[in-house]
Amino acid sequence: MTTTQSELARYDNSKTYDWNYEIVPEPVDLDLPVVVGNWDFMGVPVGSPLGIPAGPLLNGKWVLYYASLGFDVLTYKTVRSVHRDCYDLPNLQPVETDSLHGDEEVLPAIDTMKGSWAVSFGMPSKSPEIWRKDIEWTRKRLPKNKVLSVSVVGTIQEGWGVDELAADYAQCAKWAVESGAGTVETNFSCPNVSTRDGQLYQEHGAAEVVARTVREAIGQTPYIIKVGHVSTSEEAESLLRHVAPYADGLAMTNSVATKVRGSEGKNLFEGQCRGICGIATLAESLRQTATFHDLIQKKNCKVKLIGVGGASTAEDVRAYLDRGAHAVHIATAAMVDPLTAIRIREKLQ
Ligand SMILES: Cc1cc2nc3c(=O)[nH]c(=O)nc-3n(C[C@H](O)[C@H](O)[C@H](O)COP(=O)(O)O)c2cc1C
Repeated sequence: MTTTQSELARYDNSKTYDWNYEIVPEPVDLDLPVVVGNWDFMGVPVGSPLGIPAGPLLNGKWVLYYASLGFDVLTYKTVRSVHRDCYDLPNLQPVETDSLHGDEEVLPAIDTMKGSWAVSFGMPSKSPEIWRKDIEWTRKRLPKNKVLSVSVVGTIQEGWGVDELAADYAQCAKWAVESGAGTVETNFSCPNVSTRDGQLYQEHGAAEVVARTVREAIGQTPYIIKVGHVSTSEEAESLLRHVAPYADGLAMTNSVATKVRGSEGKNLFEGQCRGICGIATLAESLRQTATFHDLIQKKNCKVKLIGVGGASTAEDVRAYLDRGAHAVHIATAAMVDPLTAIRIREKLQ
């Protein structure tokens, strides 16, 4: 492998989501170190435990690019039943912070990325006509031994209750499967959206209704639920009790939410919280993964865990696997350094 980090194209966070949707690097031809072991993702054989969670892969071309960089599970960025624009820039704001615990109120914005950033997209989506065709296009081109997972979210409308929201999630999930998704993920966590669809992982009864409705819509297709920061074992137990009968996997942790203070002392994002992603969330997400793993073992239930949050090295991947994760998905580090999977694969050999 002669390619170095600086030569490889990546998401340009000085440009808009729409610009990055259009300007996508071509797949590369690199030697991918083999990771010894028998790996699978939700029962489908794959070459490693490495994947990209919902976020960096805006469309099929981004999926193909990161597949060529050594990731085996590619999650298509969360889509909706309706078109939704992206928030204004900045969408990715680096912050100065040590490890987060979830009780931090505000973090300072900085100019240079030091491993963690505030993510502020607002879950934009193309219309279903566009994303359904794009998923079909992607599945045809993606190597057979790579899993295409599609993340969906419901979009609450005026006057809707949980049943309507659940039906909207289920419609998107069904479309994703019909278009070729190998696994489906429902995002129950987005700290940027102050409506019910952003907080489902904290409303366990409503989460159960949505999970059951999605399961009915997608039959046997492996189903993953993405959750946010859960700080206590009691909360984890209750969430698990409500959703485990319907889900095959839980992906954690989406992010840890805080406010962000700009250089002039004023809070960014109109004073609202944003999800902090990257290295600062690693310790807390490892703890959360271990908590859920203990509960899963005690309850003898079959839900698998996908470790997400702050991983960037082979040691981090091992730490997740040691805590009971079935797979490890990496967003921030892979966006900053597209060679992340190859570096990890070399060490995991
Ligand atoms: C650019 C970007 C966009 C994201 N968009 C989504 C999204 O649409 N849906 C979702 O469930 N999570 C989204 N996330 C959260 C990631 O899936 C992941 O949970 C988070 O980044 C933590 O992993 P990391 O520390 O490796 O970045 C996004 C993250 C990033 C960095």
